[in-house]
Amino acid sequence: TLFRSRVAVTGGAGQIAYSLLFRIGNGEVFGADQPVILQVLEITPAMQALEGVLMELQDSAQPLVQDIIATDDANVAFKDANWAILVGGKPRGPGMLRKDLIAANGPIFVGQGEAINNNAADDIRIVTVANPCNSNTLVAKSNAPDVPADRWFAMTRLDENRAKAQIANKAGVTSAEVTNVGIWGNHSATQFPWFDAALVGGKPATEVIDDREWFENDFLSTVQQRGKAIIEARGKSSAASAANAALDTIRSIITPTPEGDWFSAAVYSAGNPYGIDENLMYSFPLRSDGNTVSIVEGLELSDYAVSKAKASEAELQEEREAVADLL
Ligand code: NAD
Ligand code: LMR
Repeated sequence: TLFRSRVAVTGGAGQIAYSLLFRIGNGEVFGADQPVILQVLEITPAMQALEGVLMELQDSAQPLVQDIIATDDANVAFKDANWAILVGGKPRGPGMLRKDLIAANGPIFVGQGEAINNNAADDIRIVTVANPCNSNTLVAKSNAPDVPADRWFAMTRLDENRAKAQIANKAGVTSAEVTNVGIWGNHSATQFPWFDAALVGGKPATEVIDDREWFENDFLSTVQQRGKAIIEARGKSSAASAANAALDTIRSIITPTPEGDWFSAAVYSAGNPYGIDENLMYSFPLRSDGNTVSIVEGLELSDYAVSKAKASEAELQEEREAVADLL
């Protein structure tokens, strides 16, 4: 079946979109036979730069791209959209925490939540990339009362991919062999890249890499601090890998999860089986049947893992306080 998705992408003149838009147009997410319509949102001062991106998209002559709409009006960008990828917002610079962006970026998600609520297609699904992505999503969701709770995702897939790459590198295998890594909590330095259930070539990662000290220290802090390390090295925050993770997120949502495995994204926590505060966007290990996404139940967390998961919950509760007037 052909779906012909309308895909809204915000922040279209920015660095992540510069990778994301072209890869969507290439059929890398929805399939090599699935036509797409790109609906790209920018702020008015960036419309000229967006014009340039648009020319390049046209010049790519991608057969799947049926139409490209560029606009500074959120009502136009989200009109009949089946997917919204919320990338627009300020990135952090050196010395900043992601949550330092909350005052600048949080308010964006009030208007965008409303515009999604009032314009998007009935099957709209939203993936937020802009930081702090968990709390930005909570703001948008709170301002979109007609959009069901299970449509909202905030991206922690880059953290999952980073964790898999670290484990693969340490074990001397490719990341394709690493499964069952789960990201718990916030896309921030308190996130918990959970390794106890991780497998390398089907064997416990903690047996293949028999070095708990490494998991609890180097591994943990490398994954938690990777975004910062990239900003320090590149002078700008991650972009191609972030776009890549956004595509991975959508593919994982719309594809049945391989038997026994899971993927991670922050979802609305109401009804979660792990006792996490019910009104947060919190990252859990998830499975999809190709349509519906659910939190993996029955995972056994050590006391150490629970303390990490709780620390990230506490940080998300603080962030929620900081945006209370936007909810
Ligand atoms: P960028 O500055 O290159 O691009 C952002 C674009 O968003 C700019 O062109 C800007 O004009 C636009 N924008 C700002 N406000 C907007 C609004 N209200 N509506 C529409 N567009 C708007 O930044 P980037 O490097 O592309 O990063 C974008 C965001 O993604 C940042 O917040 C960054 O921190 C975040 N990020 C998240 C992850 C993750 O893993 N979740 C990874 C990387 C980056
Ligand atoms: C990342 O993880 O690379 C992004 O969230 C950008 C950042 O500020 O770290």
